[in-house]
Parts: sequence; C-alpha cells; structure tokens
Amino acid sequence: MNKKKTKTTEKVENFYSKNPFPSYQVNENKLDILIKGDKNVLSKQFKIFAGSNKKILEAGCGTAQLSCYLAISSGNILYSLDATKKSLDVAQKFFDKEKIKNIKTIEGDLLNENILPYNFFDIIWCSGVLHHTDNPYLGFQNLTKFLKKDGYLIIGLYNRYTRLRTNIRRYVYSKIKGKKNKRRFLFIFDPILRKMKKNLFKNRYKIFAWIMDQYDHIVESQHTIDEVFEWFNNNGIQATSYFPNNFNYSETDFEKFFNDRKLNETSFIERILVQIYHIFGSIGSEGGIFFVIGRKKN
Ligand SMILES: C[S@@+](CC[C@H](N)C(=O)[O-])C[C@H]1O[C@@H](n2cnc3c(N)ncnc32)[C@H](O)[C@@H]1O
Repeated sequence: MNKKKTKTTEKVENFYSKNPFPSYQVNENKLDILIKGDKNVLSKQFKIFAGSNKKILEAGCGTAQLSCYLAISSGNILYSLDATKKSLDVAQKFFDKEKIKNIKTIEGDLLNENILPYNFFDIIWCSGVLHHTDNPYLGFQNLTKFLKKDGYLIIGLYNRYTRLRTNIRRYVYSKIKGKKNKRRFLFIFDPILRKMKKNLFKNRYKIFAWIMDQYDHIVESQHTIDEVFEWFNNNGIQATSYFPNNFNYSETDFEKFFNDRKLNETSFIERILVQIYHIFGSIGSEGGIFFVIGRKKN
C-alpha cells in the first residue's frame, strides 16, 4: 500500500498524534460503544441502512468508534482509514482488547488516489475529515473512485453558515490570555464540553481531543450544501438526501436521510435559510456539521 502523504497531511497527522480524536473514555468497552451508538439516532439509522455483508469504508476514522459500532454483531467488513498512525494504533488496541475481528485499519492519505482499490466499497462514510485537508474536493473525487456502482457515499462537513457560533467561540478563545482562563471560557460556552465535564475523569482524553479539534486546529475549511451538490453532480453521484433539510429538526429526519431514493427538491434560497436557521439550534451549538448522501450512477 502506498503511504505517501502531502505536507499538510503530515502536519495534520502530527497534530492528531498529540491527541487522537475522538478518543475512548477510560475503561470503555464494546457494550459501551453499542449503547452509545444505539442512542445516537444518526449512527443507529446508519447501521440499519448498512445492513449486512457490505464492504464499508470509514474514511478519516480517527480512533474509529463508528467503525467499531458498525462492526459489532454485523456481517459487514469495515475498512477504517486514517492518516494518523497513532489514532489507528489506539483503535487497533481497542479492537484487540474487545476481540472485534471484522475491521481492517489502513494508514493513508485520502488525497492519494492510489491508497485504495477502485470500484470496491458498497458504502463510504467520510465525516469531519475533508475540511481538515488542503484540498477537500480532491479528497472527495478520490472517494468517488473507491466506491462501487450503486454504492452510497455519505459526506459530513463543517457548514459555512451553521458553524458561526463555533467561529465566534474560537475567536474569543484565541484572544484570551492564559491557559486556565481559556479553559474556563470553553467549559462555560461550549455545550459539548459542558456535557463531558459532568464526568471529568472518564472523559479526560475526549475533552483534550475536543478542545484541540475545535479550537486549536491548524487546517479548517467550511462548506455549503450547494457546493457539495455540485461536487456530487460533477462526479457521477446522484444526491438522494441531505441534513438538515428543513427548519424543524427531528429524529425521524435521519430515517428519511438514509431511506430517500430521490432528492426532495427545495430552492437554493430555502437551503440557505435552513443553514442560517440552524445556527440557533443544537446543530449550530455543537459545531455546525451537515451531511449529504448520494448513490454512484456509473
Ligand atoms: C476530526 S477527526 C474526525 C474523526 C472521525 N471521522 C470522527 O468523526 O470522529 C479528523 C480525522 O481526519 C484525519 N485526516 C485528516 N486529513 C486526512 C487525510 N488527508 N487522509 C486521511 N485522514 C485524514 C485525521 O487524522 C483525523 O483522525
């Protein structure tokens, strides 16, 4: 396998090597991952959608919690790729400890088109990754090559509008002097940290990983739903759904997200308004990520 990485990818690897993301809780086990995955509507619906006997790529898996959840009690084979060897080592240690055998870890750069075989995967999931590369569109194009005809591609990216609250917090954080005051500020204003703080000891690795990932990152870009529609269109992928696609975020949206076979047409203006609207809800307060799913046409 060709492990060549770009200069930026090497810098990003160095960054995540200090705090592999998202990291495991102290003493976490397989059952904890299963319970957490079932509680999270997005991952639960994804697992139902994936079914069994599929080859699934988690591209930019970090410490591979999602791969782990999808692999437990399923006939699927998970391929967990990441540029950060240290994160993959943390993941592999967990799989070995928990005797999870249907996951293969792969170290590599998504910007390298020779890192994986072409037309191979039934499903590719890539969330929270491309916006940390120096060429998200190239990474996306490579993913479409690795996907089989009729296979599904799911992309999750930071939203240029919905991430406004994180952008403001990050700006204020950068202006505060002193580590202690910076931390204090984040523990008051970041809702994810407020939740994790309730179990400080158990979550100590996750807390470091979250602060670095959200507030100290060295490479970050932000995107829009229509930009990703264009990526899909120009690369033979038929977009079938996106999230959030309306003003009232409800848990059944994720069921629809995976089961829609045809894009529910909305206007460009509606999509802009939805992205702005969600600044003020839980999506905006927790980092402003959005998802687009589509099927490969040929
Ligand atoms: C924010 S973490 C997301 C991890 C995981 N997807 C999640 O949502 O929990 C970003 C991950 O992308 C990986 N990454 C960044 N650039 C990459 C690249 N060019 N190729 C492969 N992985 C990359 C990093 O090593 C890191 O583990």
